[in-house]
Amino acid sequence: MLRALASLFFYARFLREFSALGFRRRQPHWKPLAGNYRGQRWLVTGATGGIGRAIALAANRGGATVLAAARDQRKLAKLREDATCPEQLLPIAVDLSSMTAVAQMRNAAQIAERPVDVLINNVGVLLNDFGQTEEGLETSFATNILGHFVLTEGLRDAGLLQSDSVVINMSSGGIYGTPLRREAMAASTAQGYDGMAAYATHKRAQVALTGLWNQRWNGSPRVYVMHPGWVDTAGVRSSLPWFRATLKHFLRDAEQGADTALWLAEARPEIDGGIYLDRSLQPEHCFAFTRRGECSAEDLHQYLEAQAARCLS
Ligand SMILES: NC(=O)c1ccc[n+]([C@@H]2O[C@H](COP(=O)([O-])OP(=O)(O)OC[C@H]3O[C@@H](n4cnc5c(N)ncnc54)[C@H](OP(=O)(O)O)[C@@H]3O)[C@@H](O)[C@H]2O)c1
Repeated sequence: MLRALASLFFYARFLREFSALGFRRRQPHWKPLAGNYRGQRWLVTGATGGIGRAIALAANRGGATVLAAARDQRKLAKLREDATCPEQLLPIAVDLSSMTAVAQMRNAAQIAERPVDVLINNVGVLLNDFGQTEEGLETSFATNILGHFVLTEGLRDAGLLQSDSVVINMSSGGIYGTPLRREAMAASTAQGYDGMAAYATHKRAQVALTGLWNQRWNGSPRVYVMHPGWVDTAGVRSSLPWFRATLKHFLRDAEQGADTALWLAEARPEIDGGIYLDRSLQPEHCFAFTRRGECSAEDLHQYLEAQAARCLS
C-alpha cells in the first residue's frame, strides 16, 4: 500500500516534465538540429528498438556510419532495410549482458578499425523476474550497467574514444527514487528481488559513473548522462503494462525520446554535472534522501571493475 502511494506520488510529481506534455511545452523554444553527422562513426547499443532505433536511424540519415548493436539478427536486418544509407548501417549482433561477448565485440575489426565519435550506451531493461546470465550476473545489472562499463572503458583503453568523442549514457527519471546503493544493484538470489529497485539503482549508477569518468578523463572523451522522458516503446509495454495503460495518451514517441541524445552529440555542451532532459541540465537529485548514497562513485567503479575481471578472467 505504501509502495503504491509512493509510486503514485512519484508519477504525479513528474508527469508534466517527463511526459509528452513536457516535450511539447519546451520544443517551440529550440532551434532545429542541423542533423549533419557526415564522416562520423556512431556506436549505438539497443539500436533495433524504441529510442535506440530512432537515434540510429537519425544518425544514419545525417550521414554517420552507424555501428548498430543488439541481439536479434532479424531486427538488425530490418533496421538496415529502413536506413537511409543501408551501406552505412553496420549491424553487430551482441548480447550486452555477456561480458565475454562485449569484450569480443569491442575487439572486432569492424569496431577496432577507427575511433568512435559518438557512443550511445542505450540498452536498458527493467526485468520483473530475477534471472542470471551464464557468467553468474543478475541479468538487468549485466545489461544495464556492467556491459556498458566494459564497452566504454575497453574502447577508451584501446584509443577508440578520443578527446573529440562523446559518450551518452541513457539513464532514467528512476534515479529520483533511489540513492546509489551497492546492495540493490546486483541481487544474487531470487529472494526479495525487486526489478524496479534494481533498474532505478542501475540508472543512478550511470549518473555516478558519468561524473567519475568526467573527473578521471577530464573531458577526453566528454561523457553525458540523459533521461529521454517517458516514451512509448516495446520495453515499456512489456515491463510496465499498468504504467503504459494509464499514461498511453501522455507518452512520448521514440523520436521525441531520441531528441536530447542527438542534440548532445551535436551541441556538446561543457561538462557540468547533472542529467540532461529535453536539451537542458536537470539536477541529479530532487529529494534529500537520494543524496545519502550507501557507496561512493569510486566504490562503484571498483566493484564494476572486479565483476568485469571475474567474468573475463
Ligand atoms: N521508454 C522509456 O519511457 C524510458 C524512460 C526512461 C529511460 N529509458 C531508457 O532508454 C533506453 C532505451 O529504452 P527503450 O524503452 O527504447 O528500450 P526497448 O524498447 O526495450 O528497446 C530495447 C533495445 O535494446 C536491445 N536489447 C535489449 N536487451 C539487450 C541485450 N541484452 N543486448 C543487446 N541489446 C539488447 C533490443 O534489441 P534485441 O532484443 O534485438 O536485443 C532493442 O534494440 C533504456 O536504457 C531505458 O532504460 C526509457
